[in-house]
Amino acid sequence: MTDTVAYLDAHRERNLEELFDFLRIPSVSAKSDHDAETARAANWLADRMREAGLGAEVLPTDGHPVVLGEWREAGPDAPTILIYGHYDVQPAEPLELWSSPAFEPEIRDGRVYARGSADDKGQLYMHVKAIQALLETTGSLPANVVVVAEGEEEVGSPNLVPFVERMRDRLAADVVVISDSAMFAPGQPSLLFSLRGLAYVEVHVSAAKGDLHSGAYGGAVPNPATELARMLTTLHDAAGRIAIPGFYDDVVEWSEETRSAIRALDFDEEEFRAGVGSPGLHGEAGYSTLERLWIRPTCEVNGLLSGWTGEGAKTVLPAKAMAKVSFRLVPDQSPARVAELMEAHLREVAPPWVRVEVKELHGGNPWKADPSGPLFEAASVALEEAFGRAPVIVGEGGSIPIVGDFERILGCPALLVGFALPGCNMHAPDEWFTVENYERGTTSLCRLYGELAERLGSAG
Ligand code: BES
Ligand code: ZN
Repeated sequence: MTDTVAYLDAHRERNLEELFDFLRIPSVSAKSDHDAETARAANWLADRMREAGLGAEVLPTDGHPVVLGEWREAGPDAPTILIYGHYDVQPAEPLELWSSPAFEPEIRDGRVYARGSADDKGQLYMHVKAIQALLETTGSLPANVVVVAEGEEEVGSPNLVPFVERMRDRLAADVVVISDSAMFAPGQPSLLFSLRGLAYVEVHVSAAKGDLHSGAYGGAVPNPATELARMLTTLHDAAGRIAIPGFYDDVVEWSEETRSAIRALDFDEEEFRAGVGSPGLHGEAGYSTLERLWIRPTCEVNGLLSGWTGEGAKTVLPAKAMAKVSFRLVPDQSPARVAELMEAHLREVAPPWVRVEVKELHGGNPWKADPSGPLFEAASVALEEAFGRAPVIVGEGGSIPIVGDFERILGCPALLVGFALPGCNMHAPDEWFTVENYERGTTSLCRLYGELAERLGSAG
């Protein structure tokens, strides 16, 4: 390891410059006019994987390609580590709110500012650099390694499940390692015990065949904006619980052990409140802020559209209104079931004088880890050596849709070790990732592969 650490130290500048090149490619998966850039990011990554010593292929899907990297020289009796990450990024808009352009990475105060720096190019590229450092200094890796980098995570991974199913044999592994999440606090390495799932729907309410004069028709013709707003207020009760019948049926209560582990974390609620800039916090009664974020399901209106929203007043009776609504799910809720319950509920509360259409967008299953096994032990040793501090075990409110599917299809557990920091602005303007975590984290990954290989033995 001393050689590997020295190698990483000697190549700090190169490793950062390459990350900058990666970040300069605007691989926004949601925008079809960026498809050429998204493809360019895939090819760029495959080239860097080859330079690192991996065999790499860019494999087509019905959407953006998957970059598959492989090193199998540890042999058929050695364990296999599957590494997953994504090279696509969220749109950078609103561009005017960035302090420096989203796709022109810049270091300020030890932070790399750019779209994708934390989510997930920076964290994915750490694995490539860790693999390269080990191969260059030791001539081998402690286990067989397969890297799956997808280009559609930010649009719900619509083509990855069929890909993993098709490639099941080639992707067979003993563990899936994922770095696409955050640490609990600066300097405090963290391992995830959970991810929430997601169910996303679009609700369309309409009445008249076109917009009308609100004086000539208002009062007699239904207003879809008002009706949709009324429907949305039935989604929660006064205690902040979701009021859709059946919604909690599949929610598993977490153990007292998990809840007390969460309570034991050093979390400053006032600092959190001030950090988000809201005058107050609000959520489901009976649960702490961290519980509301990690182990309880939610229902959020993500967007609303109706009528006149431009400058000045326009007296119009809108013909239609639309809301985007998403649910964060916890074990054992299923996205399809929740979307079904939501649609039934909306039909129940909608008045007969409007039309309602519910479209299901993407979804993802929740995920829960077993923190007692060898994976967490391996990661604890590796992280403590690199960060000088044992990791804490934390939940995560966000979703990575494929994690549960990996476990189900490949029959191997996932280990989530992320290096972003709270407040890093994933999906928002001024996304950042610290140079320190990029570098320290890469060192810890070199150690992690070794610790995992040792504990997974020759499981094959
Ligand atoms: N990296 C995130 C997941 C995440 C978010 C981890 C926040 C830690 C903190 C991932 O790229 C993501 O944004 N997932 C989406 C999934 C969706 C687009 C299907 C999410 O959670 O909204
Ligand atoms: Zn994301």
